[in-house]
Amino acid sequence: MSCEIRLQGLRKVYPDGTHALAEVDLVCPRGKTTTLVGPSGSGKSTILKIVAGLLEATSGAVLFEGRDVSGLPPEKRNIGMVFQSYALFPNMSVAENVGFGLLVRGTPPAERALRVAKALENVQIAHLAERRIHQLSGGQQQRVALARAVVFQPDILLLDEPLSALDAKIRNELRAELASLLRRFGITAIYVTHDQQEAMSLGDQVVVLDGGRIMQAGAPEEVYARPANSFVAGFIGSANLLPVRIGEPVAGLRPVVLEFAELKLPEAEFQRRWPGLSAGPARLLCRPQDVSIVEASRAHAQITISERMFLGDRVRLTGATPGGQLLHLEAPTRCPVRTGESVPAAVDIDSIHLVAT
Ligand SMILES: Nc1ncnc2c1ncn2[C@@H]1O[C@H](COP(=O)(O)OP(=O)(O)O)[C@@H](O)[C@H]1O
Ligand SMILES: [Mg+2]
Repeated sequence: MSCEIRLQGLRKVYPDGTHALAEVDLVCPRGKTTTLVGPSGSGKSTILKIVAGLLEATSGAVLFEGRDVSGLPPEKRNIGMVFQSYALFPNMSVAENVGFGLLVRGTPPAERALRVAKALENVQIAHLAERRIHQLSGGQQQRVALARAVVFQPDILLLDEPLSALDAKIRNELRAELASLLRRFGITAIYVTHDQQEAMSLGDQVVVLDGGRIMQAGAPEEVYARPANSFVAGFIGSANLLPVRIGEPVAGLRPVVLEFAELKLPEAEFQRRWPGLSAGPARLLCRPQDVSIVEASRAHAQITISERMFLGDRVRLTGATPGGQLLHLEAPTRCPVRTGESVPAAVDIDSIHLVAT
């Protein structure tokens, strides 16, 4: 039985006076994965520890299915946990590690064996049951830690940077596997990472944190396309974040003035897309894939290419406008443009997003 997690006005001040969380309100929907993402020190692990019952909040409440669990010790919360340091017992076999918690709780041997077998099967390491931990790769150890977390059939799964100790290739493999596993389990999960790509690929809901505050919570597509502020815009995905000045509308057109161009957007469209913005300084977000090399007549700026990075399926170019502003763009690998060359570039207006400074 998975359950909804609700955080209400959660605050945490550590004994040394560090303010780690300030008024965190969040709903993690039942059966879905919520990823918490943010720079180091933004309060991700603190949230997880409070949900787990390992740490007490200074104020606020944690509710499981509407029930306040604040006074409930960790072992009564029916939570499975996976951490970066797996803390497996090196001298025990895989099966013994996974079954250890059941053994301690006095689960009868036959049932224990059955549950362990099922958990190992779930993470596709049934064939490694009799191996010792030190005979496993990092990725395999991570799977053991996951099996150990789900062997109790918890209502909630908490994962704190579970892949960060692994090298890139294994991490990508395990990420994809984790994603399908979490969907299959249909368990309510909170997944902490500092990697925005991981957050977006695993989360049904992505929560961006900075300085102990939620900057934005939403579906990955929403957070990516319509970041709530310039912190989220800069943190999620790679972006051009350009200073602009929004003018007063003139004859039904809203001027958005860049250093190198002036865009004129129909006022009705401006109001619909950015109801919270008014005249004044702002920032314009455009993704590298939304800037392209065009015919001179359609260009917003002439840019001088300063960098060309081969990404395999495409190239990432960086160019400077006459005013010295840098623009990142992506082009097909066959694009012949070299560094030092000057090319006309344009921003895809339909894909831009404006945020307050
Ligand atoms: N036990 C502690 N005592 C004092 N400060 C702490 C403690 N644990 C974490 N912090 C501080 O609280 C803030 C949030 O930490 P944490 O939740 O671990 O961040 P994250 O997991 O996002 O890196 C940081 O400023 C960190 O230094
Ligand atoms: Mg942490």
